[in-house]
Amino acid sequence: MIPTATQASATLEEIFRWRRDVRHFRPEPVDEATLDDLLRSASMAPSVGLSEPWRFLSVDEPGRRDAVRAIFASCQAAALTERAGQDAALYARLKLAGLDDAPHQIAVFSVENPEQGRGLGRGTMPDTTVWSTVMAVHNFWLAAAARGIGVGWVSILEAEAVRLTLDVPTSWRFVAYLCVGYPVERSDTPELERLGWEQRQAACREWVRR
Ligand SMILES: Cc1cc2nc3c(=O)[nH]c(=O)nc-3n(C[C@H](O)[C@H](O)[C@H](O)COP(=O)(O)O)c2cc1C
Repeated sequence: MIPTATQASATLEEIFRWRRDVRHFRPEPVDEATLDDLLRSASMAPSVGLSEPWRFLSVDEPGRRDAVRAIFASCQAAALTERAGQDAALYARLKLAGLDDAPHQIAVFSVENPEQGRGLGRGTMPDTTVWSTVMAVHNFWLAAAARGIGVGWVSILEAEAVRLTLDVPTSWRFVAYLCVGYPVERSDTPELERLGWEQRQAACREWVRR
């Protein structure tokens, strides 16, 4: 049944408000049927030319998870060195991935030049396939939040190293590494805001007009 506009917008607004990037997870797994539901929600995303370029890969093998954790550690070390300035101490205190405790890890790729969609809509803007995949990630994130499941997006990773670790075709471009599980806590405020790293800006809630 299609919900009324009032019901739908109120529910959606709550999901938007409480969706968080989660880095602290409880150990219990999410059941397989629920994970399948999240994948189905992700795959309802819009895509350029109906190309559906996303590929969601569940990273289950401990050896591959260890390899991704090592890639993250090395990228984090490099980022810390680059930030030798005044915010390095605060940066070092941030937890920027739930790789040690998230029960599920999902790598998301975008197929470059997919046959599906027959090239429609991306001739002038080839990145639209990646944007379509990001929309699928966002659907996944919101669908998870609606069920009280946390998702943390990890991008402090070297894309080619992840692609090789997960042994996927060269035509698959790495887009996101998601830590998934039940969050330790819920909040309506981003963790980076709570820790004093950055603040949401009023200007971003206003139109730019020309
Ligand atoms: C493309 C993208 C990449 C991100 N990469 C990371 C990351 O590597 N580590 C991290 O802790 N958070 C990462 N985040 C989460 C952001 O820090 C987070 O969305 C932002 O602080 C706002 O918080 P909220 O998502 O809870 O509203 C990423 C988010 C996006 C959209």
